[in-house]
Amino acid sequence: MSEKLKFPDNFLWGAATSAHQVEGGNRNDWSEWEKANAERLAKEAGSKWEKWQQDKFPEMFNSENYVSGRACDHYNRYENDLDIAKELGHNAHRFSVEWSRIEPEEGKFDEREVEHYRKVIQAIKNRGMEPFVTLWHWTIPLWLEKKGGCESRKFPEYFSKYSEYVAKKLGKEVKFWITLNEPTSVIASSYLTGVWPPQKKNILKAWRLYKIFARSHIRAYEIIHKNCPDAQVGFANILHSFEPYRRKWFLDELMVRIGKYLTNRRMLNLTEGYNDFLTVQYYFHNRFRFPKKVRTEHLPVTDMNWEIFPHGIYRIINKLKEHNLPIYITENGLADADDSKRQSFIFHHLWEMQRAIQDGADVRGYFYWSLLDNFEWDKGFWPRFGLVEVDYKTLERKIRPSALKYAKICRSNELEV
Ligand code: FCB
Repeated sequence: MSEKLKFPDNFLWGAATSAHQVEGGNRNDWSEWEKANAERLAKEAGSKWEKWQQDKFPEMFNSENYVSGRACDHYNRYENDLDIAKELGHNAHRFSVEWSRIEPEEGKFDEREVEHYRKVIQAIKNRGMEPFVTLWHWTIPLWLEKKGGCESRKFPEYFSKYSEYVAKKLGKEVKFWITLNEPTSVIASSYLTGVWPPQKKNILKAWRLYKIFARSHIRAYEIIHKNCPDAQVGFANILHSFEPYRRKWFLDELMVRIGKYLTNRRMLNLTEGYNDFLTVQYYFHNRFRFPKKVRTEHLPVTDMNWEIFPHGIYRIINKLKEHNLPIYITENGLADADDSKRQSFIFHHLWEMQRAIQDGADVRGYFYWSLLDNFEWDKGFWPRFGLVEVDYKTLERKIRPSALKYAKICRSNELEV
């Protein structure tokens, strides 16, 4: 006998995208970095990825894989893509507006680009979906890159001016605002491992960035509220699941504590009191055996070789409960080109989320990452995260079978177990 687990009334179901990864035709710090680094990235693929990944995705050896270029051409095809989202039963949609389009020169805002995003928001609403707007999903206008990008002490000021402009222009139409996307991912990948632009390995800078990002969020939070009194504002936080390899083993436990603090906790602490809702972006399970991260052998993996550990989302949500704020899962998903694991991935994560709700967590929405296959940053196009497959030659869209299963959950607002 199957059982039906109901989600709360008015639960928001959808998928997320970000401007640079889907739009095409952007000019920002990433687009320039991609062109300068594509050949190097293609050469390095052989040493970065496992043999099975290299065999499955030979495109990782082509330099074109690493240049976002026209991406999914979502900038021109958003109506069609939103039709698909609607057809898939979504009642919410998360996307980002591109700073480099809106403010191509310092202090000079482009009305036409704001109009474009106004149309996107209208298109979302006309299809009965709730828009979640992200102001900054990592890309930096070229003028700001020259001034030091997010390292600049003035970043919060630049960001707040841009946020103010967008909030004034689009505030009437948008209720849910996400200021920054995963600040800690930028700190880690741009300033600790140094694999993303501007590729600086600098612990001091990394440490300082937490405060810069927190200040940026807080200022934008206040500005959005001033301009749109009914707004709900938060930031998109990546939260990892952590586990010691040996329980009660001091050094393994210590690594877990440090990891939890730096990734899951610090940004929340620094922005305490300035979040109307909390978010969960969940992808990673980390197991530490001092001094290294080790694999959990029995766990299945995605095409990126990331471990699939659905229970992690339960633990994360359960911990967030203590803040007494509504929670939205603003990203969760996997790269799975042949769509063999996606259905079960979504099902198990939703089952764990449902358990957390039963245990008292106020979860109000879930956004699968991503609606479409798209440009996965320094990895390029080969990872396929989409509910919808994109043929990058013809730009044709094809709904994957797992998307239809997810659609059933979205429409019925329940999980059949
Ligand atoms: C998240 C990012 C998103 C996408 C997914 C796979 O960390 O926010 O843009 O790259 O990972």
